[in-house]
Amino acid sequence: MAEPDERVLLAGALKRYLEELRDTGVEELEYATGAAAAPVSQTQSPAPPSLAESLEDIRNELGDCRRCQLCETRQNIVFGVGSDSAKVLFVGEAPGRDEDLQGEPFVGEAGQLLTKMIKAMGYERSEVYICNVIKCRPPENRNPLPAEIDNCSPFMQRQIKSIAPKAIVALGTFSSQTLLGSKEPISKLRGHFHDYHGIPLMPTFHPAFLLRSPEKKREVWSDLQQVMKLMV
Ligand code: URA
Repeated sequence: MAEPDERVLLAGALKRYLEELRDTGVEELEYATGAAAAPVSQTQSPAPPSLAESLEDIRNELGDCRRCQLCETRQNIVFGVGSDSAKVLFVGEAPGRDEDLQGEPFVGEAGQLLTKMIKAMGYERSEVYICNVIKCRPPENRNPLPAEIDNCSPFMQRQIKSIAPKAIVALGTFSSQTLLGSKEPISKLRGHFHDYHGIPLMPTFHPAFLLRSPEKKREVWSDLQQVMKLMV
C-alpha cells in the first residue's frame, strides 16, 4: 500500500493525466482490470504521467519562503537553474552575494569556474541542473545553521527526486556531508562514488576552494571524468 504522501502524488498525477486525455479529445474511458484491461482509447494518448512532482510544483510550494530567518536578509530565493531532465545535477552550499542579487546559483567568480568545468565535460549550463542545499544567502556567507538546513534541505531532496539524474556532483564539504549524512572531510569523500538513494554521487572540491588552491583542479577534473564515464 502506498504511503499517504505517495497517494496524494498519485492522485495529483492521475488528475493531470485525465485532464491531458480530456484535452486530447478522449471523452470516455473503458473500465477494465488486470490482464483483460482494454486500451483506454484507440486515439493516440499522451505519455503516462510521471509520478515525480515537477520542479514547478516544488518551486510553487516554496513560495515566498519564510520558514527560517534567512528570509529577513535575502534579496532573492535562489531555487536552481537548468534542465528538469538533466543527467548531471550539481549541488552547492548556499547562494553568495552575486547569487542573492541575481536569483541564480553559481554566477559569481566560483560560478564562472563551475561553468567552465561544466563546458569541459561537454555540457552547457542549460543541459545540467545546478542548485544549492540552502536557497537563501546566509548573512556574511556564514555557515548555515542546523534549523536552516532542516527547513531547506527537503526542497533540494525533492528537486533531486524530481529530476532523477544519472549522477550528482556534490560541490564541497557542506553539500557532500549534508547529502551523505557524513562527517568525513571532503578530502576523504571525494574521488569515488557514493550512493544517494540509488543515484551515484561524486563529492568533489568546491569551485571557491579551487580559486584559492588551483593545484587541486587536477583532482576535480579526475572526479568529473569519472562522472562523464557514467554518461556513456
Ligand atoms: N557557492 C555555492 O555554494 N553556491 C552558489 O550558488 C555560489 C557559491
